[in-house]
Amino acid sequence: MAFNNAVSLTSSMLVVIFSSVLLSSCYFDISEAGDDPPIVKGLSWTFYESSCPKLESIIRKQLKKVFKDDIGQAAGLLRLHFHDCFVQGCDGSVLLDGSASGPSEQEAPPNLSLRAEAFEIINDLRRRVHKKCGRIVSCADITALAARDAVFLSGGPDYDVPLGRRDGLTFATTNVTLANLPAPSSNTTTLLSSLATKKFDATDVVALSGGHTIGISHCSSFTDRLYPQDTNMDKTFANNLKVTCPALDTDNTTVLDIRSPNKFDNKYYVDLMNRQGLFTSDQDLYTDKRTRDIVKSFAVNETLFFEKFVLSMTKMGQLTVLTGTEGEIRANCSVRNSDNSYLASVVGQEQEVVTLSGF
Ligand code: HEM
Repeated sequence: MAFNNAVSLTSSMLVVIFSSVLLSSCYFDISEAGDDPPIVKGLSWTFYESSCPKLESIIRKQLKKVFKDDIGQAAGLLRLHFHDCFVQGCDGSVLLDGSASGPSEQEAPPNLSLRAEAFEIINDLRRRVHKKCGRIVSCADITALAARDAVFLSGGPDYDVPLGRRDGLTFATTNVTLANLPAPSSNTTTLLSSLATKKFDATDVVALSGGHTIGISHCSSFTDRLYPQDTNMDKTFANNLKVTCPALDTDNTTVLDIRSPNKFDNKYYVDLMNRQGLFTSDQDLYTDKRTRDIVKSFAVNETLFFEKFVLSMTKMGQLTVLTGTEGEIRANCSVRNSDNSYLASVVGQEQEVVTLSGF
């Protein structure tokens, strides 16, 4: 928090940014118009229109209340959707508690820093939605809508989310989870090739990394850049971080975007241009020639960033989704229905009633 005051846009920074715009517009077509994102078979823009018309308003109204108390929860929900989609697709698998088959995705190292409250918020939203509409809306869809509202309610763009995802019956192993979520120590080469396996291009990689315009990180995610000090990090920024994280294993946290930590805006890219990106995976986007001009174009044109972010998020939100009769609609986002003893007893009772009434 102390960094907020320590860093402000000085005129020299502005010169850097504006001279870069002139340069960047030569290489990167910032006027490139975004088309409506295509949607995969089985999802629809109007999926719950007649079966649960209040779905989106229930979620938005509740999240407004949640964020009024603690805007930090918005970041937790955005990251939760990312971690759900990148591992085994947007199937709510990250929400599942462990089972006899082994440790859940939640227990894999990158997921240990997901906020416990994010899981509770999703289950609370699920309860509200199912109370109104019955068990017809999946936890995966609720997570996608919560991420959208997290973006919008913290100042970012509003956008439609294609719906109709179903919840998965399995979760990924620790190794699969690790293989699909890039480490913060990744350079751009690693990020580009890792995300290319999911059909994301360089613009997607830079736009999605813009999710780091809100939220926090634990010291352990970036102290490799402090001890020894990464020469590609602004010195004052590094010194301030060392105060928060005096040793490699300190358990403190700091904000991801020093200029506007709770606002979804394009300041993250301004941070990168001033060598104040927190992770190697962030800062290297400005160092690497393949992504540098995209960073610059987003730093000077927030509308362009929002437009590309929406396209990339819509793409991310449709990664290997289950639709139709695949998977299930969980009655509790943390437990699959077959492991849900309460549900089993309710279904049992229902079956009994059906059987009895059949006589
Ligand atoms: C591109 C590769 C990415 C890497 C390497 C990465 C890595 C990380 C790490 C290490 C943290 C901090 C964890 C901690 O120590 O507490 C973090 C936080 C966060 N990430 Fe990413 N991330 C990436 C992509 C994304 C994407 C695509 C989004 C969303 C669109 C996103 C949204 C967030 C948010 C909102 C937080 C803050 C969470 C909170 O405050 O609870 N990240 N990320």
